[in-house]
Amino acid sequence: ATADAHIEVLVNEPIATIQPEIYGHFTEHLGGVVYDGIWVGEKSSIPNIHGIRKELVEKLKAIKAPVIRWPGGCFADSYDWKDGIGPRDKRPRRTNFWVDDPQAKKLPNDAVQKYEPNTFGTDEFVQFCKLSNADPYIAANLRALPPLSFDQWVEYCNSPAHSTTYADIRAAAGYPEPYNVRYWGIGNESWGCGGNFTPEEYSNEYRRFTAWVPDYGVDPRFVASGPNEDDVDWTTQFFEDILHRRPIHPPYGWSVHNYTNALEALNFNDQDAYSLFYKGTSTERIIQNMWTAMGVFDRDHQTRMVVDEYGPWYGAGTEVDPTHIFGQQITMRDAIVTAFTLDIFNRHAEKVCMANCAQLINCIDSLFIAHEDKFIVTPNFNVFEMYAAHQGAKAVRAEFSAPSVGFTDIVKPDRWGPPRGGERSVQRSLNGLMGSASVNGKQLTLTVVNPSLTDARDTQIAVRGGSVATATATVLAASDIHAHNTFEQPNAVTTKSAQATASGSTVAFAFPPMSVTKVEITLS
Ligand code: AHR
Repeated sequence: ATADAHIEVLVNEPIATIQPEIYGHFTEHLGGVVYDGIWVGEKSSIPNIHGIRKELVEKLKAIKAPVIRWPGGCFADSYDWKDGIGPRDKRPRRTNFWVDDPQAKKLPNDAVQKYEPNTFGTDEFVQFCKLSNADPYIAANLRALPPLSFDQWVEYCNSPAHSTTYADIRAAAGYPEPYNVRYWGIGNESWGCGGNFTPEEYSNEYRRFTAWVPDYGVDPRFVASGPNEDDVDWTTQFFEDILHRRPIHPPYGWSVHNYTNALEALNFNDQDAYSLFYKGTSTERIIQNMWTAMGVFDRDHQTRMVVDEYGPWYGAGTEVDPTHIFGQQITMRDAIVTAFTLDIFNRHAEKVCMANCAQLINCIDSLFIAHEDKFIVTPNFNVFEMYAAHQGAKAVRAEFSAPSVGFTDIVKPDRWGPPRGGERSVQRSLNGLMGSASVNGKQLTLTVVNPSLTDARDTQIAVRGGSVATATATVLAASDIHAHNTFEQPNAVTTKSAQATASGSTVAFAFPPMSVTKVEITLS
């Protein structure tokens, strides 16, 4: 068949190294993420390693999870880390931030999330990371605790064995050696649940929290709380203020959150699917806008972006388990948004140094769903499994040319309520193919999303600057965009190998409708 689409990969046009941390995760004390998700308890009959769900750890190793963010989210700015150390049976019970969330309150079981037992604290989190071969990324409480408490948390984690009283408490828990936690979030959503600060106030707090934090030879990387979605004003005002004041530690990262909001996780039509794809592509514009705004003051771009919350997020009533707040089902539609979001990060590898999908398990855009002894992967897991090949590789320029997908977007209420400007219909189009490419030695990895719900794309892939020795493909596709895994049918959606045809410096491949594909090309 004649190709109706073309991809050009320019192997000699590097963008930047893809930081493995772009493939990071996020875990919050919210709904079923920690309790029932990660933590099952040491005495549980569910296979566990020191209380941590074994199957989850194995899957995280399989996808090379590089970094995990904890304990929130909004929970972080109401959390006292001292509640979560020492003997577990002596730890205090506290009210969890999410008790008062209006969406959580709509759930049938109003006992959900009332108390935080603090069974899972710093030691348990760091062990979870170590078991999974991931780096810990810890968010400090900037709203409700003073900087001294933050210093002491760093001391608890990183002071050398037998050096301080906190090191001794850590040793008494069984961990004499320092944890060497490198990534620290200085608050979370400080414009909202994290303190409702102005950018200037937050700049003061950021400097107060980070100046002279004990280093312990770890060279900490501080992530400042950036805006919600596309709020460029927050970015501009923060950078203008802070860089004039010569901070001891300019931020390593600028946190950006961008959720793709809608109402229904399963009950949607084709237009809704395209509408979600369209909304999801806003991540690219946000990254570009933010980078430009940061560059006005941070001219050498010392600070890069940490997109530490992203993913499709649906309304109340979409939970797989009624006790898991925001524990929505994950379909092929979500896998497509997640995949092209990762492609956006790859394409902007010089701007984005970390990203954390929200959230790892039982919450929003999860890779896993678990309840008691039941555990499944979602199609998002397959995406992370395929895309792991990009980690640490050099992103290179790739151009995609395919017939665009036109659709009528019915702009509807999402989880926040009616749309700004009211309900309306608008003609829109999506790029016919989206993706990214990277090179690691002789290995070229090309990931491609076909968002069309109806049309396959016969594609010629031209490799400029190299010739092709072999080409293979792995495809995640389904015949229905609603396809998802359940406890009863855990492999309803899964990846398949497919043959790609290589000749000279080109590869021919037909990308199925509504699919995510990895093409692995060995260069000769
Ligand atoms: O991921 C759920 C919540 O979304 C987080 O706690 C918060 O940071 C964001 O608003």
